[in-house]
Amino acid sequence: MSQTKEIPLMEKIVSLCKRKGFIFQSSEIYGGINGFWDYGPLGAELKRNLRETWWRAMTREREDVVGLDATIIMHPNIWKASGHVDTFSDPMSDCLVTKKRFRSDHVEPQSGIIYNFIGALPQRVIFDVFADSELTPEFWIGWLFPRAYSEFKTFDGLAGLIQKGAASQQKGEVVNAEKKAQALLESFVLNEFKVLAPAGKPQESAAKIACQFYESRGITNPVLVEAEPTRFKVEDSRAFNPENGAQLTEPKPFNLMFHTYVGATASEDDKAYLRPETAQAIFVQFKNVVDSTRVKVPFGICQIGKAFRNEVTPRNFTFRSREFEQMELEFFIPPDEAVRLVHGSVAAWSEGADLSSPQPNWGWEMWHRYWVAQRTAYYAGIGLGPDVLDYFWQGKADLAHYARACVDILFKFPFGTEELEGIAARGDFDLTQHQKHSGKPLEVFDEELRAAAVKLTDEQRAAFIAEVQEDWNDHNKSREDAALFCERLLKGFYVPHVIEPSAGLDRLALAVLTLAYTEVEKTDAKGNKETQIVMRFHPRIAPKKVAVFPLLKNKPELVAKARAIYDTLKKHVAADYDEGGSIGKRYARQDEAGTPFCVTVDFDTLGEKGPELLDTVTLRHRDDGSQERVKISDLLGRLLPLVS
Ligand code: GAP
Repeated sequence: MSQTKEIPLMEKIVSLCKRKGFIFQSSEIYGGINGFWDYGPLGAELKRNLRETWWRAMTREREDVVGLDATIIMHPNIWKASGHVDTFSDPMSDCLVTKKRFRSDHVEPQSGIIYNFIGALPQRVIFDVFADSELTPEFWIGWLFPRAYSEFKTFDGLAGLIQKGAASQQKGEVVNAEKKAQALLESFVLNEFKVLAPAGKPQESAAKIACQFYESRGITNPVLVEAEPTRFKVEDSRAFNPENGAQLTEPKPFNLMFHTYVGATASEDDKAYLRPETAQAIFVQFKNVVDSTRVKVPFGICQIGKAFRNEVTPRNFTFRSREFEQMELEFFIPPDEAVRLVHGSVAAWSEGADLSSPQPNWGWEMWHRYWVAQRTAYYAGIGLGPDVLDYFWQGKADLAHYARACVDILFKFPFGTEELEGIAARGDFDLTQHQKHSGKPLEVFDEELRAAAVKLTDEQRAAFIAEVQEDWNDHNKSREDAALFCERLLKGFYVPHVIEPSAGLDRLALAVLTLAYTEVEKTDAKGNKETQIVMRFHPRIAPKKVAVFPLLKNKPELVAKARAIYDTLKKHVAADYDEGGSIGKRYARQDEAGTPFCVTVDFDTLGEKGPELLDTVTLRHRDDGSQERVKISDLLGRLLPLVS
C-alpha cells in the first residue's frame, strides 16, 4: 500500500510563499544568500499593510507619539555609547569536523555517551616503522599499538616501548629503532577530541567521526591511539554537533554588527556600522524632536526601518534573518522620583489595574503594563488573538543590567512559540549614555516639577534626597550619583526614562502568513476531492482586498461593467481584476492569495432577470464562501470599513 508522506506545515508555507509571490529567496538565480529574503508582489502588499496598521496605531491615532525616519548608517560613536560595539554579540561554536557554525545557545541539547579520543597517527608511518619487524604492522595498528599507548600515555613511554620491542626483535638494532620511534612520534597528532554518540549508537560510529577529525588535521588514514577511549554519560549537552556528534569549539563571542567604510580611504577611522536596531536613532534625535515639536514628556517617538544583524545561524525561514525590518517605539516618561515630587505618590501596578487611559501619577511599571496592553490590543486588531499569543516575563537574571523589566510577546509559530516583540523598561540608560558620549545635554525641563520642588522646606528636601539615596543604594547605584540626580531634579531637570515596545515586521509577516494558512477539502463538479489552500488574512492586512470578475470574458457588456467597478475600487483599496478561467478557478486563485472579497458581474447585473437586480453584483466572502447581492453603488461603502 502506498503511503503519502506528510509534508511539514512550514515546508508547505515556504512553498506557497514562493508559488504565490509572497516571499522569495534573495538572489535565488545565483544560488541564494543565507539569511536574506525578498518580498514578492503579494508579500510587498502584505508587509506594507502591516507597516501601515502599526504606524497608524502607534502614531496617527495617538496624540502623544510622533514619527521619525532616520538613516541606516550613523556616527560610529553611537554604537560605542549604546554598548553594541563591546557587547552586541552571540556565542558562536564551530563543528571541529565539518566546520559548520552554530549559535552555541541554540544547539539542540544532546544526551548519550561521550567518547574521549586522545590522538591519532597515520597508518603509513606505522607500516614504515614496522616493515622489518617480526610483528606485522596490522598487529601494531589493530591491537598492540593502541594498548601500548593506553598504558604508557606519553610519547616517551611509547618511544621506549618501541625501542624495546624493536631491539629485542631486530637483535640490537637500537639506533634504527630510535629513528623509527622518532618518525612515529613526529607524525603523531596528540589532540583530544570528543564525540557524543546517542544511546544505542556503537562506539565505531564515534571512532569514525574521530578519524574524520584527525584526517582534517592532516593525518591520512588515521589510526586512533587508544582502542578503548575513556567514556562517560552526559545529559542535555550543547557542546556537540547534533548532526554527527562531533565536539564543538568553546563558545566565542561574535559581534553581530555588519560594518562598512564611509568614504574612499577605507581606514579604521572611517569604519561605520549598518544599524542593528532602529532605536538608537530615536535616542540621538531626541533633542531635535523635542525642540522642533510641541511634545512634552510623557511622549513617544517611533520609527519603522531596516536593521541588520550578522546572525550566526539564520533560520526558520524569515524568522531570524540578517536583514530585517523593525517597528520600534521609544516612549519617554518621567523618573518615578519626579512623579512622586509632583503628585505626592506613584500609582503602583496590581493585577486588574485600569490601564485604559494614562494617568499623570503613573510610574514606569504602570506605563510598562500599559504598553503591553496596547500592543496586545494591536495584535488582536489584525487577527492575532490570545489563542496564538503568549508572554514571557524575563526574570531578574535575564535582564540587561540597566533594564527594570522586559516582556516578550510570543507567537505560536509552527516551529515553536517564539518572540514577536519585546517590551522593555530601559530606565534612563540610553539617553544618559548618549549624553555622556556626545557631551550634549539630553535632559528635559519640567516647570511643574520645579514648582513642586520650590515648595519643599529644607527638611523635606533633605528627607527626599535621603530617600532617593537609600532607594538607589538598593539598586546598586552610588549615593553620589543619587545626590547629583536629586540636585538636577529639584531644579526641574531630568533625563527621561524609556519604555520600548520593539517589534519585528518580518516576524509579524511570518506570523500572519502561518496563521492565515488553511487547507480546505473541496469537491469539484465531477465529485473529485481536492485540497485547496485558503489564506485567511484579517481583511485589514490582506494583500488584496477585493477581486472583480466578469462572469464571461467574451461578453463585452460584462467586461465593461466589471472594469468600471474595478477602476472605481482600485482608487481606494488594493484590488485585482481577473477574467481568466472558470469562476471556481478564479475564486480558488483569490483564496490562495487571501483576498477576502470577490465581486462578480453577471447577467443579472445587466438587468436580464428584471430591473430589481440591475446594477447589483455578487459579493463573495472568502472565509465561509457565502454570497450576497449588493448594489454597485453600495460596494465601496460596504468594503471600506471592513478592510481599513
Ligand atoms: N531595540 C530593541 C531591540 O532591537 P530585539 O529584541 O533585539 O530588541 C526587537 O529586537 C525585535 O526585532 C524582535 O522582537 C524581533 O521581532 C525582531 N528581530 C530581532 N532580530 C531579528 C532577526 N534576526 N530577524 C528578524 N527579526 C528580528
